[in-house]
Amino acid sequence: MDAIECIRTRMSIRKFKPDPVPEDVLMQVIDDAKWSPSYKNSQPWEVVIVSGEKKEALSRTLIELLESGAEPTPDLPVPLEWPPVVASRIDALMRKRSEITGKDLNDPEVKRKSKIANFSFYGAPHGILLFQDASLTVWSIFDMGIFAQSIMLAAHAYGLGTVPQAFLTDYAGAVKRFLGVPETKRMVLGISIGYPDWDSPVNGFRTDRVPTSEIVKIVT
Ligand SMILES: Cc1cc2nc3c(=O)[nH]c(=O)nc-3n(C[C@H](O)[C@H](O)[C@H](O)COP(=O)(O)O)c2cc1C
Repeated sequence: MDAIECIRTRMSIRKFKPDPVPEDVLMQVIDDAKWSPSYKNSQPWEVVIVSGEKKEALSRTLIELLESGAEPTPDLPVPLEWPPVVASRIDALMRKRSEITGKDLNDPEVKRKSKIANFSFYGAPHGILLFQDASLTVWSIFDMGIFAQSIMLAAHAYGLGTVPQAFLTDYAGAVKRFLGVPETKRMVLGISIGYPDWDSPVNGFRTDRVPTSEIVKIVT
């Protein structure tokens, strides 16, 4: 698969086969992704891969927090408002998802089930959790985005599926305590990873993109 095909065919996978990915393949994905650029080559990323019984126990911890009504306390603030043009793209996604699933995505029960699916790593055998020192500036969060995309592209090139999940950072403090990650670290993102279950209708849904002309201005 060439780079262009890899970029254009990657998509978020939300149902996985339970089969574990060999550890050397997971390590290879990170080994590839570490070639991402970063501000002054600072490489501000720290990675924890959680699998097996530990991953199940982490899921249970997150679901228990949700069910207890605990308020999410992510290290990065959840956006509460969006500029109108961006908000309209989010609305379009939600409308399309609602049409396809036949579910009202604002229904609290639908939201609860969606969180549980997120906290269950969508059935993936592994979770890749990304951290960095909390003292780092916004440029280093930017670097993490590039690193995360490299992980997802490398995984896709090896026939694996991924989904980036801000929701996995809802209870960042609890995740860090569970994994023995110091409080001085910032949890930036979680990524579920495994072999895609292509028989699941949820993986048949592809998002679209706005026309290129809408996001580019050529100045000559
Ligand atoms: C920073 C970030 C956070 C995201 N958080 C979640 C999440 O918590 N749960 C989820 O199911 N998808 C999440 N997504 C996936 C987006 O919904 C998805 O990337 C977007 O709809 C485009 O679809 P695609 O990845 O299939 O191209 C997130 C994506 C990004 C980049």
